[in-house]
Amino acid sequence: MHLYRTGAFLRAARSARFVVGSPRLAVPASCTQARWSSSHLAAEEQRPFPDQSVEPSREVDPNKTAPKSKGDSVQADFKKRLKELGQDNKIVHENLSGAKILGTPYIFDETSNVSDSILNLVGRNLYDIPDHPITITRNLIESCFPYPEFNHFTVKDPVVTVKDNFDVLGFPADHPGRSRTDTYYVNSDHLLRTHTSAHQHAAFQSLVAEKYVTGYTICADVYRRDSIDRTHFPVFHQMEGAKVWGLGPGESRYLAQAARTAKIARQLDALPKTDIEVEDQATVFSKENNPIQPEHDPVELQLVVKHLKRSLEYLVEQIHKAAKESLDPAAREAFGPLKMRWIEAYFPFTTPSFEVEVFWNGEWLELLGCGVVQQPILNNAGLRYSIGWAWGVGIERFAMLLFGIPDIRLLWSTDKRFLGQFAPGKITRFEPFSKYPACYKDIAFWINAAPAGASPVGAESSSMSGVAAAAGGNATKASPAETQPAAFHENDIMEVVRDVAGSLVEDVKLVDEFVHPTSGRKSLCYRINYRSLERTLTNEEVNRLHDEVAAKMKSRFKVELR
Ligand code: DAH
Repeated sequence: MHLYRTGAFLRAARSARFVVGSPRLAVPASCTQARWSSSHLAAEEQRPFPDQSVEPSREVDPNKTAPKSKGDSVQADFKKRLKELGQDNKIVHENLSGAKILGTPYIFDETSNVSDSILNLVGRNLYDIPDHPITITRNLIESCFPYPEFNHFTVKDPVVTVKDNFDVLGFPADHPGRSRTDTYYVNSDHLLRTHTSAHQHAAFQSLVAEKYVTGYTICADVYRRDSIDRTHFPVFHQMEGAKVWGLGPGESRYLAQAARTAKIARQLDALPKTDIEVEDQATVFSKENNPIQPEHDPVELQLVVKHLKRSLEYLVEQIHKAAKESLDPAAREAFGPLKMRWIEAYFPFTTPSFEVEVFWNGEWLELLGCGVVQQPILNNAGLRYSIGWAWGVGIERFAMLLFGIPDIRLLWSTDKRFLGQFAPGKITRFEPFSKYPACYKDIAFWINAAPAGASPVGAESSSMSGVAAAAGGNATKASPAETQPAAFHENDIMEVVRDVAGSLVEDVKLVDEFVHPTSGRKSLCYRINYRSLERTLTNEEVNRLHDEVAAKMKSRFKVELR
C-alpha cells in the first residue's frame, strides 16, 4: 500500500457508533496512579521537533504584493497572466514558466516537476461523487466515526507547503518521501500533497475551539510518483482520522490527568464490541522499536492504544461485513471469517505506531497505519494538554476489495459502463464489461553516467543524494562501481509513460538489465503494456505512443536507445 512505513530503514540508518462513556466508572485500579510527573514535564519542554507556525499554504494575490525589484514585477505580471487564464490547471511556459492550479498561480523553479498529465487530474474530486466507489467507501468509513464526536473534512486543493506535508510532521530531512523522484513539486515551497496527514495540523487546530467534537476525519486526493500497474496510480485517495482527549479543569494537573485517564477508560469500555480473530504482535512498546513518548504516562498510554485498536477493529469488521453482504449467497458461504493482526510500524508523526493487516485471499494484506500522535504536533496545534491517536488509510485498496475492481484505472473512468454500475450507499460487485487486447512493447536503453535530469532535488542536494537508491531498489546506478547518485530512477520512465499515454497503459515492468562486460555501462529494458479499459487500441496508435515515449526518454534523460 501507499504508506510511509520506512521505519526499519530509517531507524537502522539513524540509529459506527461510539457511545461516550457510561457514567459507571470502569477504571482499572492502576489508573488512579496515573500521573503527570515532573520528569514527564521536563521531557515535554525539551523535546525538539520541527518548529512550525502555520502560514497560509497558498500563494499571495499578485495584485496585492508590492513589487520589490524588476524581477518581482516580472513575476507579478506572469502570475497575473496565469491567474487570468480561462482553463484550470495549466502549465504555461513564457519568459517564466509556471502553472495555474485550481485558480491559483504558481511560478516554477528548479524543483518543479509537476506535469500536465498530473494537473489534468486535479479537481476531479471523485470522493464527492455520490455513486462513485471512492465516495461510497469514504461514507462507509466515516460512518464508523460519526458526528458529533468526529467532524468530517474534505480538502479540495491539493497544493500544500513542504512544511505542512513534511516538516510539521517531523519527517527527517533525508526521508525518501521528500525526494523529487517520489513527490510532485510545484516549486521548492509547494507540492501536491502526498498524504492527508498534510492537513493534520490544521485539523488539530480546528479542535481547539470545539466543545463536543473531539476527533475528525479528512478525505482527499493525494499524489505520488510511482510505478505503473493495476494497483498504482499517481493520484489516489486517503482518509485520515484522529481523536484527542484534553485535560479538563482540575485542582491540579495531577488530578486533571487522573480524570482524563478515567474518561479514556470509560470511553474504551463503551466502544462497540467486535467479533473477529485478532492477533496482536505489537503489545510491547520497546524503547528501540516502538517507544512510548516521554510525555506520556504509561498507564494512560495503554488505554489510548487500546482505544485506537478497538476503534479500528470495529472499522475493519464493518468493511468486512459490507464486503460479505455484497456477495451472492454461495460466495458468502465461502467467504471465510475475518482474520486480522496488529504489527509494529514506524511513522514520523506517531509513536508507538502500528499497522493493520488482514488475511485476504490467502495472504496478509496491509490495510492501514496508525499510532499515538507525537506530542509536539498536538502542542504546536494548540492542544498542549491533550493526548490522542491518529490513523491513515488508502481508500483505493478498500474500494477495490469491496467492489471487486481489478484495475485502479477504472476508478478514473468516465465510461457509463463503469459508473452506471454503482449506487450511493450500496456495495455491489463490479461486472467487467469487457477486456480489450494487450499490446506489449519493449524499450531498451543504456543509462548515462550522470544523474538523471528529472531528479535534481533528490540528486543535487547533498542530504538527499542517493536516498532513492537507499530507499529501495528502483533507483539505478549507471554501473555497479558508480559512486555518483543514481543515474536513473524508475519513476522517471513511469512519468514519461504517463505523460505520453496516460491511462492507456496497464503496467510497465523492468524485464531485463545487464552491465556491459567491457564498457561497464548498464542497459535496462522495460516492457510497456498498452491496453485501454474502454476500447481496442490500433497498432498505429500504439506505435505512435511508443515512439513518443522513446523520444522523450532520449531528450529528457539523455539515455541512449538500443
Ligand atoms: N500518512 C501516512 C501515509 O501516507 C498514513 C498514516 C499513518 C496516517 C499513520 C496517520 C497515521 O495519521 O497515524 O503513509
